[in-house]
Amino acid sequence: MARPPIPNNVGIENLPARMVEHFEAWRESYLDWWKWTNLDLEEPIPLRWAVQRENGDLGFDSGNVKMLEYPWGIWLGPQKSYRHIPYGDHMGEPLWTERQDIPAAYLDDLRRLIVQQGDTEPASVEQQRYLGLTAPSDHDRAGLFQVNVEEGRHLWAMVYLLIRYFGKDGRDESDALLQRRSGDPDTGRILGAFNNPIRDWLAVFCFTTFTDRDGKYQLRAESESAFEPFACTTDFMLREEAFHMAFGQNGIERVVKRTIELMKTAPHGDVKQVGGIPLDILQKYINEWYSLSLDLFGGPDSNNAERLWGRGLKGRDDESKPGRYEDHKLSGGEYVYEAGTPFEKRGSLRRAMNELLRDEYIKDCAK
Ligand SMILES: [Fe+2]
Ligand SMILES: [Fe+2]
Repeated sequence: MARPPIPNNVGIENLPARMVEHFEAWRESYLDWWKWTNLDLEEPIPLRWAVQRENGDLGFDSGNVKMLEYPWGIWLGPQKSYRHIPYGDHMGEPLWTERQDIPAAYLDDLRRLIVQQGDTEPASVEQQRYLGLTAPSDHDRAGLFQVNVEEGRHLWAMVYLLIRYFGKDGRDESDALLQRRSGDPDTGRILGAFNNPIRDWLAVFCFTTFTDRDGKYQLRAESESAFEPFACTTDFMLREEAFHMAFGQNGIERVVKRTIELMKTAPHGDVKQVGGIPLDILQKYINEWYSLSLDLFGGPDSNNAERLWGRGLKGRDDESKPGRYEDHKLSGGEYVYEAGTPFEKRGSLRRAMNELLRDEYIKDCAK
């Protein structure tokens, strides 16, 4: 079946014909996967989608579309205003804009990072794929589907990088992203939280509040990458991510508000008797998703994190923001784990990159 051109601002049409074929072929597999999720509803859904305006800015349009016809595309945020790597062992060298700019020894790390990010996107759609059947309202249902199609687009964003810059390895990884399945004991998704079932709407509100917020911090750190296409694409994904967190928080707030209302009128304040959600149940859900999300940041004292930062593949939060940090080399810095407790321990700051990002996340959750 003839499909419309893939919407994009990366000039796909000017790439070698073989590569365009790979994108087209991957799109067919992607649409098959979308059908597998059962989200290929016949009815049009009110959704918004990314577009490029005539002046080149990225924005959003909205309308009623069938999900299978959603205009998934490839959108890179604007070029970085700085042109040199702002931290790590390559600080001061020009940003990498092409594959040949990336030191060959770093390709595996960078590809793994992109695959790990990409894997979370379809995973969450798989986790949430039955919830449309039990939506509390049409508004919630459309909100959920909005999150789902945008997670689909985030997968496209990572697959673009894999197919365009990583040759055969990248193509194989792109296919594998559509073959793993959340929760499958043999071919599960890469990260723990993305294999945990989401059975009800309280869970999806907690997931989008806490796990999408982990996503926000991973994307913020990735948007500091020395590989500019990765940095610019994650920048734009953050705009959609903000909506996902708002969707979750709004849901949790409504639950809390309703529970408090019901507590006033329910016999003995027992909201369960009148169909409410007791606060202790809500707390259980929050504990579950908050701790699963904390785990996503990885080991606190980490070789891997040190390497990714040193190589310039993944920065600290706001690494390039003027005035945010004084030291971007960190040859001798120290991090204090569990400060002020009997378990206090000192370690190298470079090895503490996961922990630093987790600290930012915890601060954000406490807001
Ligand atoms: Fe996402
Ligand atoms: Fe998200």
